[in-house]
Amino acid sequence: MPMKSYIGLALCLLLFAACSQKPAGDKEAALNYKADSVLKLMTLQEKIGQMVLYTSDWDVTGPTIRSSYLDDIKKGNCGNIFNAHTVAYVRTLQKAAVEESRLGIPLLFGYDVIHGYKTIFPISLGEACSWDLAAIEKSARVSAIEAAASGLNWTFAPMVDISVEPRWGRVSEGAGEDPYLGSCIATARVKGFQGTDLADTSTILACVKHFAAYGAPLAGRDYNTVDMSRRVFLDTYLPPYKAAIEAGAGSVMTSFNELDGVPATGSKALLTDLLRKELGFKGIVVTDYTAINEMVNHGIVANEEEAGALALNAGVDMDMQGEIFFKYLEKQVKAGSVKVKQIDDAVRRILRVKFELGLFDDPYKYCSEAREKANVYSKENLEAALDVAKRSLVLLKNDNQALPLRKGDKIAVIGELAASKRDLLGSWIAAGQWENIPSLLDAMETYQGDILYAEGCKKMGDDRTGFAEALRTAAKADKIVLVIGESCDWCGEASSRSDIHVPGVQTELLAELNKLGKPVVVVLMNGRPLDLSREESLADALLETWFAGSMGGEAITQVLYGEYNPSGKLTMSFPRNIGQVPIFYYEKNTGRPIYLPNDKYKSKYIDVPNDPLFPFGFGLSYTTFEYSNLQLSDTLLSNGGSLKATVQVKNTGKVKGEEVIQWYIRDLVGSVTRPVKELKGFQKMELNPGESRTVAFTLTPDKLAFHRIDMSFGTEPGEFLVFVGGNSSDVMQKRFQLR
Ligand code: NOJ
Repeated sequence: MPMKSYIGLALCLLLFAACSQKPAGDKEAALNYKADSVLKLMTLQEKIGQMVLYTSDWDVTGPTIRSSYLDDIKKGNCGNIFNAHTVAYVRTLQKAAVEESRLGIPLLFGYDVIHGYKTIFPISLGEACSWDLAAIEKSARVSAIEAAASGLNWTFAPMVDISVEPRWGRVSEGAGEDPYLGSCIATARVKGFQGTDLADTSTILACVKHFAAYGAPLAGRDYNTVDMSRRVFLDTYLPPYKAAIEAGAGSVMTSFNELDGVPATGSKALLTDLLRKELGFKGIVVTDYTAINEMVNHGIVANEEEAGALALNAGVDMDMQGEIFFKYLEKQVKAGSVKVKQIDDAVRRILRVKFELGLFDDPYKYCSEAREKANVYSKENLEAALDVAKRSLVLLKNDNQALPLRKGDKIAVIGELAASKRDLLGSWIAAGQWENIPSLLDAMETYQGDILYAEGCKKMGDDRTGFAEALRTAAKADKIVLVIGESCDWCGEASSRSDIHVPGVQTELLAELNKLGKPVVVVLMNGRPLDLSREESLADALLETWFAGSMGGEAITQVLYGEYNPSGKLTMSFPRNIGQVPIFYYEKNTGRPIYLPNDKYKSKYIDVPNDPLFPFGFGLSYTTFEYSNLQLSDTLLSNGGSLKATVQVKNTGKVKGEEVIQWYIRDLVGSVTRPVKELKGFQKMELNPGESRTVAFTLTPDKLAFHRIDMSFGTEPGEFLVFVGGNSSDVMQKRFQLR
């Protein structure tokens, strides 16, 4: 046996001994003990190797810096890989780490499994519109099962960035504008990905991103500066990150943006003082893609070497793709500008996660071909995707009983998007495949058989040559279904828009079709709130379908034909025009709110109403719901006590349907001004025709807490309103007092 192999064998035995010893004490102490046992064996270079994350040559979202990552793995210079998946590929790379590096430390394998791995669910914004936490958790669960069966142990999700910016393309990846709903969804997603035991072979590590406030770029331009008061940050933007961390998320990704003049990736205030000390986060902090390097462009450091030190000192553990830690940390330790202790702390956190995942016990635990075959893209998973997709669709308008369609109707389907498979999946589609999924047109043809179709026009561009054929086709039908919207690559990263109209000549085609005098149903596919003022005035019905995933065609068909009664509600306000942006329901009253529409010196526009075209929480059903008899158990709420609010909700239509009952509050007078409404609870329930139920909501003081004038978090006594309704603007209210 050559000398090198003897050394390797001895180290392996040592490592095994270290890892298998069980110290007394709690889980934390045990993890630290195990991580420290490995840490002791590591050279500085190997430690730094654990602090880097390189992309394989698949699916990069920016320039790939290193092509020689296999060599790096063997040399112990790379402890983590992303964008490498499938059991065969992962096993090859894991083998290089475990069998060919000196210490054999297993790799983490990360990937952007955002709304599905191969079975693609609706884009996250769409899923959020289901307001169905169980369905959302299930979607993350299925995604984790598929990803874990394909060799992965880490997803860069959930994205929990609150956003009130439809110009920003990444609103498609989040849950929308509301901190409370966003927090509930963040929790559901973390639970879905991580399950109850990270060591289970069907769970993967979640990564909360992008920390922090990435959803508020100025002018909606991706990667742009974020500038907000600390109070707004703490009350509105922080809650979903906090919820995800409380739910046990094992990693956090830093954001590209600056906040209060400091790029998040170099902000000790964010990463150490807030994240670790205040929120008690114990997992890994990974940067976004080359975010350390970008601090030079931000102008916060003079060069990359300084950027590395700033990031490490701020609390970053792992450098995604930037090579900064790899290039400079060793030199900086030797020069004394960086302390080994900081490196040890970061590596300990990384090793702990690898222990928690069970990778030291079995580095190939995510590499089972049998599981891959059985668990990926299974019938059961596709059914789950269909279920969530149906729930995510939002009916925005339905006049003249345009919907539901009837099988006997002669239907003309028009629009490029009707026949598109790729667009249905949206952005960030991981290993999603669209070639064999049914388009909406396919699904409608399967359902009804004799659908007429004409493309009419493309989703982009100004070619009107297809209009004539579309009009001829539509003239033969009883009802017209026009499918319009954005291209799937117009949402997601680096896809900001300054104009949020439906692109190209699609709306012109709608105007032409409208002249035929037949009912026109517009099916929208898009990844952000759009300005739909024109479409709203031209269409009889509007169905917002987002990008609904692998089973989107089937889900939309079921809703169009009334096989499923739509139940989705918007989680972002849809403006009347771009000039209203940013627009969100939890605005402040201002000193000059409008009471009468013609008052001049009020906080308003002279050319458009203040309210959005479609408010937060809005969505129609094929039935109607009536709210009545809002009651409070008392009008006084004392600290430590609770109040019960009840309301009667009745299905007053002819079909069964689900309603999202939304509870809001308003603090009328505070030491700082408070929003006119804040969501504090919701229930989704199904009611049969004529059925009426009493729905209850418990008000407790913690629901009324906020950051007060002195920045402490808590309540203030005084007068409050509680509201209930089926959307944020159509509500009933009662008054109560907090003592
Ligand atoms: C950049 C994106 O901002 C982030 O969300 C993603 O996880 C990484 N690239 C890795 O693909």
